[in-house]
Amino acid sequence: MNFKKQPFGFMDMLRFKKLVPNRRKMLAEGPNTPLPQEYRTNTLAKKLHPGYMRVELTAARPLTGTIRELTFRRVDGEAFPFFRAGQYASIQVKIGDSLVSRPYSIVSSPRQALAGELVLAVENAGFVSGYLTQKAQVGDRFVMTEPSGEFHYETLRDSRSIVCIAGGSGITPFMSMAASLADGDEDYQMTLFYGARTADQLAYRAELDQLTARCKGLKVVYVLSDEECPGCEKGFVTAKLMEQYADIASSTFFLCGPQAMYDFVEKELAPYALPKKAVHRDAGCCGDLPVENPAKFTLTMHMRDEVYTIPALQNETLLTAMERAGLNAPNKCRAGGCGFCHSKWLAGEYHVAEGRDGRREADRKFGFIHPCVTYPLSDMEIDVPVAY
Ligand code: FES
Repeated sequence: MNFKKQPFGFMDMLRFKKLVPNRRKMLAEGPNTPLPQEYRTNTLAKKLHPGYMRVELTAARPLTGTIRELTFRRVDGEAFPFFRAGQYASIQVKIGDSLVSRPYSIVSSPRQALAGELVLAVENAGFVSGYLTQKAQVGDRFVMTEPSGEFHYETLRDSRSIVCIAGGSGITPFMSMAASLADGDEDYQMTLFYGARTADQLAYRAELDQLTARCKGLKVVYVLSDEECPGCEKGFVTAKLMEQYADIASSTFFLCGPQAMYDFVEKELAPYALPKKAVHRDAGCCGDLPVENPAKFTLTMHMRDEVYTIPALQNETLLTAMERAGLNAPNKCRAGGCGFCHSKWLAGEYHVAEGRDGRREADRKFGFIHPCVTYPLSDMEIDVPVAY
């Protein structure tokens, strides 16, 4: 390649000399209007990542004998942020003296979020879900985190053909994924196997049939273990059944349901030797350990300028201990993965739940823990940030 050599000429010297006076002149001639208070980038960032949102329950309806659908709007009147179908939102509830949160997969589509509506479906299966299914009333207000989580389709990682397997209330993220596909916001071929014991335990059957009717890329297979029903397969989601509707070897799998379903499906898929990245499981919350007569320890907790001393049981996570004491500790996934509860360990012995240690190497090295998956083995002392 030929380059034309140019000497550093007289004109360049002149321009350089005039640089500062020219700039001063231009600044002096510029408009005297004040700078904007907020830049467009910041406005957009705030829309996409509002952090915590105050929300109000606007509608509630039963879906099955144990699952209740809850619809929310933002108290400030803003739209919910756009999210990836399959993600969850964590909702915080005050029950008695406890301030507790739980993550729930979002049922509604990302487009509905922009229209100001966000829908969750909660199964009555625990402390918080019991409250939300039995006691929460239209008009009640809560604090909700922005949508989060890695359980969603990723173009660069996943095959265009996805097989989704839902068990019971595990249908929730797939409702959003199916709606997002029907809205034209996602581009995959989705085969959904929806397992339940009986037909009356299938939530959203009518909605799924409507989505299938308007979306060519969506196929739904209902699978009932305990009864025969027209339009449903009988039995379990076996590899043989999956082969009838999808090509297992070339698909990416998304599983959401109880642990027994994960164990069963993974055994069925084992002969195909799929790469690890081809099977995604929605991570459940880290619960109590099965310990008989759990020991009672003392947890000393630093939160900004305050120091709290609270009881902590051997079989419960540090996060549960803090919530029971009514302390506002940050958390989102409660499964060790998001790092939102990231806190500094100061003293004491602890145990991290098996397979849940999502800490980075540096965090482990410099003594940080995720209280949502950490159980005390002695009295402990930690430093925790305030949620909001
Ligand atoms: S809440 Fe996500 S890692 Fe603890």
